[in-house]
Amino acid sequence: MILIIDFGSQYNQLIARRVRACRVYCQIEPPSVNLDQIVAMQPEGIILSGGPASIYDDGSAKVDPAIFSLGVPVLGICYGMQFMVHAMGGRVVRASRREYGFAQLTVKRRRGLFADVDKHTTVWMSHGDVIDRLPPDFAVTAVTPNTPVAAMSCSRRKLFGLQFHPEVHHTPQGMKMLRRFLFDVCGCKRSWTMKSFARDTVSEIRHTVGGKKVILGLSGGVDSSVTALLIHRAIGKQLTCIFVDNGLLRLDEAAKLRERLTRHLDIRIRFVRAQGRFLKALKGVSDPEKKRKIIGHVFMQVFEAEAGKIKDAEFLAQGTLYPDVIESVSAFGGPTAMIKSHHNVGGLPKRMKLKLIEPLRYLFKDEVRKLGAAIGLPDELVWRQPFPGPGLAIRIIGEITRRRLAVLRQVDDLLLDGIRKAGYYRKLWQSFAVLLPLKSVGVMGDQRTYENIVAIRAVTSKDAMTADWARLPHKLLAHLSNRIINEVRGVNRVVYDISSKPPGTIEWE
Ligand code: XMP
Repeated sequence: MILIIDFGSQYNQLIARRVRACRVYCQIEPPSVNLDQIVAMQPEGIILSGGPASIYDDGSAKVDPAIFSLGVPVLGICYGMQFMVHAMGGRVVRASRREYGFAQLTVKRRRGLFADVDKHTTVWMSHGDVIDRLPPDFAVTAVTPNTPVAAMSCSRRKLFGLQFHPEVHHTPQGMKMLRRFLFDVCGCKRSWTMKSFARDTVSEIRHTVGGKKVILGLSGGVDSSVTALLIHRAIGKQLTCIFVDNGLLRLDEAAKLRERLTRHLDIRIRFVRAQGRFLKALKGVSDPEKKRKIIGHVFMQVFEAEAGKIKDAEFLAQGTLYPDVIESVSAFGGPTAMIKSHHNVGGLPKRMKLKLIEPLRYLFKDEVRKLGAAIGLPDELVWRQPFPGPGLAIRIIGEITRRRLAVLRQVDDLLLDGIRKAGYYRKLWQSFAVLLPLKSVGVMGDQRTYENIVAIRAVTSKDAMTADWARLPHKLLAHLSNRIINEVRGVNRVVYDISSKPPGTIEWE
């Protein structure tokens, strides 16, 4: 495996993705990771990420410099390179001006990381400090017009530094450099596949759980379904899933899930019908954050009560993904900027005194989908768009009533059916409808109508951190609008949301 030390660059997840794209497993850790932990991980190489700080800033991130003496190859990128220089006895100084953007790289030695890189190539720079004096034993391997040390190495000790970002698209030959590091320098094998990951994870779960019981909160989304199937493969009936019907689900959701998971995959699921409790608690509530709090609170109560019926359960499984882990780690000490507080990490297990199992905690969403496919999860579960925990409650602006839920459910069902039939479902990160607290005048037949407005939201995204509104063809939008207005009683107007994230968010509430 490759260990990536997170010095806070916005690109560090990208480094991880690039390494994994080479079929090499990697993990991101904060700089506070200690030497014993690093040695225990047995990394074949270490990558020091970039970061926003200057090495001379108070409290700038630092990892134990003893990593340079482990005999493990190290690649420092941007701030990571400056840290290496500083720790190894060289000197870093403030540049007279920040360098940001494209730069022309001239390779001095077409060896090492640059063995198959063109002599002149474009790279992406983003730094305020430059290297003024190299540490002993290091040599300059590439320059740009503004950066005399754009790359350096000490091949004897297998230490490398790149002042630019090889992981971003804007460095077209960056992958070649990363591949040379992984395969020539570190000697990694291309062995990371979903099948091997599944095999290892299943045996790990078996080993951890032994003869004990595991509980899993199943939402029906891809993450919890893959988690369920993996654990089921490991321990079969020792796993019990709990599915809470909160009354805020899409049309026939619970029934469809029962069909797919219980009937086809033989996973044991307890369905809890708690619609009444949720709707009662939400009565008269319009504020989005209040809705979320109430739903979270009632969910905990319902889930705990149901889980309490499962005697001797010792573990709680969750489908937490890697971006959430990185974000929450960062919130508690790592330097990556905290973007949103996360709902999956923490909370339940502490209250319920259960030990946590999170088999997906090192995977990205697209990897979870590949894993799901590799272990035989049906396509319609693997390819589900994300659906928020508070469900339709945050897509009904204003008060939630049974009547409004019924309207939105019907609209949502027609919308998804149209999107699927047009071949857009998998291309979109999410597509859904929002019921507005507004009425508008319309005319149907010879009648004046005064009815609800719904908004269609369709976005493309890689990870939900940013998203763009989807450029759906007008013909498809026209078809969706026609069907919705004609078939759903109570709706006489459809609008399309053309906001991106940021500054908008994906959900309206
Ligand atoms: P936003 O609206 O913040 O959403 O751009 C980003 C992603 O998170 C989902 N989302 C939620 N998921 N509980 C959840 O489980 C929530 O309260 C929640 N709010 C938003 C949203 O659907 C999108 O995928």
